[in-house]
Amino acid sequence: MSETEGKRRLRELRRAIAHHDDLYYKKAQPEISDFEYDRLKRELAQLEAQYPTELDSPVRAVGDDRIEGFETHPHRVPMLSLDNTYNEEELKKFDQRLCKRLAVDVLEYVVEPKIDGIALSLTYEKGRLVRALTRGNGVEGDDVTHNIFTLENLPRALPGTPPPFIEIRGEAYMANEEFERINAERETLDLPLYANPRNLAAGTLKLLDPNETAQRKLEIVLYGIGYSSQEFDRQEAVLEQIKNWQLPSLQKYWLVEGMDAVWVSVQELSSLRNSFPYATDGAVIKLNTIERQQAAGATAKAPRWAIAYKFAAEQAETRLKAITIQVGRTGVLTPVAELDPIQLAGTTVARATLHNADEIARKEIREGDAVIIEKAGDIIPAVVQVLKSKRSAESRVYTFPTTCPACGAEVVRLPDETAWRCPNLQCPPQVRRRIIHYAARPCMDIENLGKAVVEQLVAVGLVQSIADLYELQIEDLVGLEKFAQKSSENLVQSIEMSTKREFWRLLHGLGIQHVGMQSAKDLARHFKTLDALMQADEAALSAVDGIGATVAQSIRLFFAEPVNLEIIRRLVACGVNTVATTEDVSALPLAGKTFVLTGTLPTMTRDQARAAIENAGGKVSSTVSKKTTYLLAGEAPGSKLKKAEKLGVSVIDEGEFKALLLG
Ligand code: IVH
Repeated sequence: MSETEGKRRLRELRRAIAHHDDLYYKKAQPEISDFEYDRLKRELAQLEAQYPTELDSPVRAVGDDRIEGFETHPHRVPMLSLDNTYNEEELKKFDQRLCKRLAVDVLEYVVEPKIDGIALSLTYEKGRLVRALTRGNGVEGDDVTHNIFTLENLPRALPGTPPPFIEIRGEAYMANEEFERINAERETLDLPLYANPRNLAAGTLKLLDPNETAQRKLEIVLYGIGYSSQEFDRQEAVLEQIKNWQLPSLQKYWLVEGMDAVWVSVQELSSLRNSFPYATDGAVIKLNTIERQQAAGATAKAPRWAIAYKFAAEQAETRLKAITIQVGRTGVLTPVAELDPIQLAGTTVARATLHNADEIARKEIREGDAVIIEKAGDIIPAVVQVLKSKRSAESRVYTFPTTCPACGAEVVRLPDETAWRCPNLQCPPQVRRRIIHYAARPCMDIENLGKAVVEQLVAVGLVQSIADLYELQIEDLVGLEKFAQKSSENLVQSIEMSTKREFWRLLHGLGIQHVGMQSAKDLARHFKTLDALMQADEAALSAVDGIGATVAQSIRLFFAEPVNLEIIRRLVACGVNTVATTEDVSALPLAGKTFVLTGTLPTMTRDQARAAIENAGGKVSSTVSKKTTYLLAGEAPGSKLKKAEKLGVSVIDEGEFKALLLG
């Protein structure tokens, strides 16, 4: 590679890694496997070593999971990450370096499973669990205490005489079974599926509403200590203490001397790992003696006394027969690889996602290619690589369609978007998916109208839009496959009943891009009627707490579309409720007021305060902004207090809050 090419590749790698970091840490939706990611990082490190002059361009931050809406809290001892390796040679070098540095011949190590979960640091004060933080940027993490209290296997108190202060560290994870249960439910609701248990666990921990977190079973396993007022002399003693406190601990770890023994235990771990309740993606090898750990020290990013050996992801070679395109509810065209079916990590794989047009171009994927597919803890496999040497001379570069394969409309790409979309609102797969969404539980919740029934109704031409549902007659249905008199009556009745649903359900069900359940609730509460919402311009929409410029613009676009207006006219004519029906919110004492909570209140729990606010017509938001009316602050407030003071938001205590509730 020439110097110019090398430097260009280096910049390209930095951009790609920053993009993947954002997807992994902030959005919990990675597009590539850990293995591929590590490969990019290694290539970057090599190029950086080769072209040191390029180093002064902005240095990428190490992973950072902090997101808007959470208070941050510092770790007393920073949470470092680990250096990774994929081969035995590098493990040996790690041991040699340490032996040299510590001037000894042989070292004692603890070999532990590397759990593929979300790192957490739990603080126990006087034996009571007081705080849970994510790793964040390593120095400070997001406070997820409210969600940790939903974990069934985590004791809130330590038995015996625990130390006055201790940070205990480990990983939150979701068991495969729970992951599959949730995805199966989402499939029936036509919601997008989660890629793997780790991402779902990350997303669940970062939910703002603990009631939602409690609907999904998260578990935790603990293996380390941050700051502690009790001293430990060995990692083994740490693991034993965790077990003795009856905290969820590692099922198995190995105490060994020297690298040969380490390697044997790594192999053993590799054969045992499928029997663990959590996903493991490798082994962590740690110096046992804490004194030696301290002597070895750490770099800015990782300790020198530990290393992660990662198992290679399971891969297989197969043939990519064809690339097909799926059209989603909002018209997004997703390319899918149709494969010669092959066994991989215990299941038969016949399809793999190709994400988007750029991904196909970047990997130079062609129809007919021999490809390597991989499942790196991911349920949906990915095409990692094309075997170009096996490519046939006749193969042609894949051209992404310029027209929608389902309806023929010319596809469009919005600025800042990677996805191509079909803009035709009548496009059949979009129509089907919109109706399924409208009838789904988080929207109009129409009983008896699941995915299969919708597909059937659309296929026979009875329903072409959500408005058609309300014109269905019992006679239209009787005689269709699986429809007898009774089931036909039931469906017509369920549809009729949906006209009485809350207004926010209708708004969510319309499927306006970017309007999820929370935005629908915010909009319904603010505008109260569909009429008022439809009259609102972008400025009026953006003024609603929780509604940003993108959502506002998308709402305007939706209501500017004649096809949508015609559907709405018909829905209204069929008597669908378009008014916020809850009691007249404007008469309640906290109507129009937005609260943010921080710290611990003297007599109320967060949930009680939230319920009190909502019952009194107010709204709770997670972030302090200019739109916040009050910050309700208790003891040990977090970063939100500073922000409120900066923005001039009124800060009140529980006493003042109770006075407000009385009106
Ligand atoms: S020790 C300073 N032990 O892997 C030492 N980490 O890739 C840091 N992890 O950030 C952690 N299993 O979240 C340790 N048995 C284990 C682990 C483990 C999983 C995670 C941890 C860490 C990441 C680094």
